[in-house]
Amino acid sequence: MKIFHEIAPLRATLRDAGRVVLVPTMGNLHEGHIRLMHDARKHGDKVVATVFVNRLQFRPGEDFDKYPRTLAADAKCLEDAGVEYLFAPSEDVMYPTPQYFHVDVPDQLATILEGEFRPGHFRGVATVVMKLFQIVQPDAALFGKKDYQQMLVLSGLVREFNLPIEVIAGDTIRAEDGLALSSRNGFLSASERQEAPRLHRLLMDLVARIQAGERDFAKLEAVVMDQLRKNGWSPDYVAVRRRADLQVPLGDDPLVVVAAAKLGTTRLIDNVEI
Ligand code: PAF
Repeated sequence: MKIFHEIAPLRATLRDAGRVVLVPTMGNLHEGHIRLMHDARKHGDKVVATVFVNRLQFRPGEDFDKYPRTLAADAKCLEDAGVEYLFAPSEDVMYPTPQYFHVDVPDQLATILEGEFRPGHFRGVATVVMKLFQIVQPDAALFGKKDYQQMLVLSGLVREFNLPIEVIAGDTIRAEDGLALSSRNGFLSASERQEAPRLHRLLMDLVARIQAGERDFAKLEAVVMDQLRKNGWSPDYVAVRRRADLQVPLGDDPLVVVAAAKLGTTRLIDNVEI
């Protein structure tokens, strides 16, 4: 695997690389990322992974400083997964001057759910991904469905800016007990790690009740929030939404339940399509 820290040599190498599939990450890779790399392989000739912890998508007081930087271990994982190219820029390469231009994410997606609790987050994500798209110029890009709202933001960005990039959604990978794999799981204490799968279990119970015909979504959401609180969590939201745009469902649209909650100091998110 070739590792690039600068833009120009990466671009030169990719010029004749055939169909390029991009998998952007913030590093500290786990099995979920590795599965995305294997999926990526099926969609093109060469896979480019990126590792960059993007300051723009963190608010002051969030975990930007403590976000694990594990580049050597990440490079080894990527190499083992058969990835051809790793782009791991420094902050100076990505943001040589303060980033004054940003991608403006529409309010109906940017200010709900994750956006309500992390104002500006999707603007930071969309801006760095737009830069990565310009740098790598991939034919396809893979994003995990675990970050469901992010995936919709980035699909919208590609569609509305007419970018010639196929956006591919990767499935959420879970531990055996159901916990969605995430770099942030590493922040959980041993007892929190034992408790953490409750989030997924409760979402699955909610899904089962909807599939059995219950339609009072607000009541079902409140049951999950309540159960989380009783077990020591601080939930931000549990919401049954339309898959297509995460708006409140009106008719028979395909649904997804999305949730975010803090366990101790670690904020976990999860979702299940219904
Ligand atoms: O999902 C992530 O890891 C990040 O939000 C992304 C897409 C790499 C942008 O920094």
